[in-house]
Amino acid sequence: MASSHKHNSDKDTGSSALKNTQAWTRLTELHADMAGTHMRDLFAADPKRFQRFTVSAGGILYDYSKNLIDKEVIAALCDLAKERGLERRTTAMFSGDIINTTEKRAVLHTALRNRSNAKIFVDGHNVMPDVMDVLARMRTFTDKVRSGEWTGCTGKPIRSIVNIGIGGSDLGPYMATEALKPYAKDDLDLHFVSNVDGTHISEALKKVDYETCLFVVVSKTFTTQETLANAHSARDWLMAQCGGDESAIARHFVAVSTNAQQVSDFGIDTDNMFGFWDWVGGRFSLWSAVGLSLALAIGMDNFEDMLAGAHEMDQHFRTAPFEKNMPVLMGMLGVWYRNFFGTSSQVIAPYDQYLHRFPAYLQQLEMESNGKSVDLDGNRVDYETCPVIWGEPGTNGQHAFFQLLHQGTQFIPADFILPVKTHNPVNDQHRLLAANCFSQTEAMMRGKTAGEAADELRVAGYGEDEVEALVPFKVFEGNRPTSTLLLDVLDPKTLGALIALYEHKVFVQGVVWGLNSFDQWGVELGKQLAKTIADELDSGLTVSSHDDSTNGLMNAWLQGQGD
Ligand code: F6P
Repeated sequence: MASSHKHNSDKDTGSSALKNTQAWTRLTELHADMAGTHMRDLFAADPKRFQRFTVSAGGILYDYSKNLIDKEVIAALCDLAKERGLERRTTAMFSGDIINTTEKRAVLHTALRNRSNAKIFVDGHNVMPDVMDVLARMRTFTDKVRSGEWTGCTGKPIRSIVNIGIGGSDLGPYMATEALKPYAKDDLDLHFVSNVDGTHISEALKKVDYETCLFVVVSKTFTTQETLANAHSARDWLMAQCGGDESAIARHFVAVSTNAQQVSDFGIDTDNMFGFWDWVGGRFSLWSAVGLSLALAIGMDNFEDMLAGAHEMDQHFRTAPFEKNMPVLMGMLGVWYRNFFGTSSQVIAPYDQYLHRFPAYLQQLEMESNGKSVDLDGNRVDYETCPVIWGEPGTNGQHAFFQLLHQGTQFIPADFILPVKTHNPVNDQHRLLAANCFSQTEAMMRGKTAGEAADELRVAGYGEDEVEALVPFKVFEGNRPTSTLLLDVLDPKTLGALIALYEHKVFVQGVVWGLNSFDQWGVELGKQLAKTIADELDSGLTVSSHDDSTNGLMNAWLQGQGD
């Protein structure tokens, strides 16, 4: 109701506060210049471009020189961040102010990885002792499971962990567990079940033995339909295996949640529950007990190294001047392309197989945070916000969608992520991987002119008629922006820094766009409808209460059940 009123008001352009900044005007001018510039010329004009446009922190070297920028653009982007109050908003976040205004919550995932002695207050209460207490409980528990002291209902040690959760309660732990496989305990299998599709839990249960399996049910709210459905199915399976002995639940189920009541209603002893707090957003919760399955896999020392890496990036973000601040630069480059060049998507290309879930993880982090069209005052924005985030590990992506990146009609900025050292030095494969990564970004920047393409064809023996016919297909315009993140090595510390980097990038963009990056009302409507529709599908009666398409689909599905 309120929003339709606001839509008609003068303030509807809302968000013009952004477009009315001096830096926006300056960037509009700079964009007009830059739109006619080729990066080849920028490199030719400045032999120190790499040095000028790289920054290092937390074991990551960020090369953003292959972007459509110069010193003036970077200065104006930093000015825009300043004019939008980034410094003030950052202090507010780290200080525990209620910056998630629609849910009236502080946003303090940074407190979960605070490795300094600094106290952090929410409503006058120092949260650090609570954080440390849960970390200590996680250590005791993970040590017990990993050493074999914690046993299943028949006295055998745990060999398989099944993490049941979805969204932030799955994507972060799953991504990080895959990323840190070289640090994982060999004789402990990890499985992640998220989808309400019964196939997901069924396939996981085929691979585990009830005597040696531990279910970690992760849900901030403990009301999420998918997670509860999967947890109930897992409990039924356990009961069927162990002859209905309910005491087995305490040996095979633990919960991670903020909702003790629902956990105990489900039948999990709250002694086996690891808590966290409403000031931790789901997609920012890996650092809390939500990372329990990861901690079981890699051990608490490694888990705490990951926290330390994230803390290092937090310190860098808080203290580095904007012009040398990795998350600020990364966030503002995204603003540059989205708002001035009109790009609509952003590719993430990790050149590391262990990071194969990283693009999926970032999809939630970025799109659930900034996929919004209403600003902090409830006004519709009059500019673009979050682009579509997508990607695949290199080199696989090269054989799938890179054709479009090189020669498609739109340009799509891409982040390339490559570790310098590999955990698997197999023959010369790491060198080949690196060569592919570097050559893709060079090709995207330089492209290939018609003259170069023609020369190549002549050298290959083509006649002039064929050269003329083929050249249009062989030309690469280039000038396609990429940034490269060179990681020292993909270890717990660097992974922590990498994730924190993207978290802060998302925050920077949310501040510039004037959004609340910490709520997610957009997922509610579908959830509500799913409940109603599930009941209707249960009744088995012909459905006529929806639109014609939905009625038709539901009735066809119902008919299929009876066949
Ligand atoms: O997708 C909506 C959402 O609320 C996410 O923000 C969250 O990570 C996910 O559902 C899971 O929620 P929960 O941890 O409460 O089960």
